[in-house]
Amino acid sequence: MGLDPSDGEEMMIPEAIRLVRSTFAQLLPVADLAADLFYDRLFSLDPALRRRFAANLDAQKQALMAALGLVVGYLDRTEELVPIVEKLGLRHAGYGLQAAHYATVGSALLWTLEQGLGPAFTPAVRAAWRDVFDMLATTMRTDAESAGPVTDDEGSERQEVSYQRKVAWCGGRSICAMR
Ligand code: HEM
Repeated sequence: MGLDPSDGEEMMIPEAIRLVRSTFAQLLPVADLAADLFYDRLFSLDPALRRRFAANLDAQKQALMAALGLVVGYLDRTEELVPIVEKLGLRHAGYGLQAAHYATVGSALLWTLEQGLGPAFTPAVRAAWRDVFDMLATTMRTDAESAGPVTDDEGSERQEVSYQRKVAWCGGRSICAMR
């Protein structure tokens, strides 16, 4: 598991995890408003995205906030988080997304955090969230591109894919430290 410094796991830097968790907790009381802001911003950045979503966004808003909450909760357990995000990516593979879509979603997310947090959205907070989103997008998009071969079985090939994804998840990012 990832808590043993000798086992080569890559972990987020605890301070970055703390920043992401504490700022997400600040947004939770206004989660509905944050979700409203996020989708308004997303569709103003790229109006063509609107038709990809259901007319009523209530369930989508809840699903997004729940997914973010789950990710935030698992940031110190990437070995468990990566397969979950891979599955999310597989589901997104069917939505016909391109790299630019992820960039737009990332931009809308950071903007939403800035609106919701105000002065608490410091450069360090922004950098930590930026890295979390980049890790999410990297994991989801890589899966989307290889949606065929990646399955839910626990064969060695799958484990190797997951390991590579874990490295991609943290590689070179400021929030991660090699342990
Ligand atoms: C990278 C972070 C993202 C997260 C955490 C996320 C999260 C989610 C979640 C939880 C769902 C609910 C269905 C499911 O679980 O598969 C969903 C659906 C969806 N997402 Fe994402 N998503 C992300 C990125 C994107 C991007 C970049 C796009 C493209 C603009 C996108 C478009 C959609 C669409 C079209 C649906 C289906 C909506 C529907 O069925 O009405 N997502 N997303």
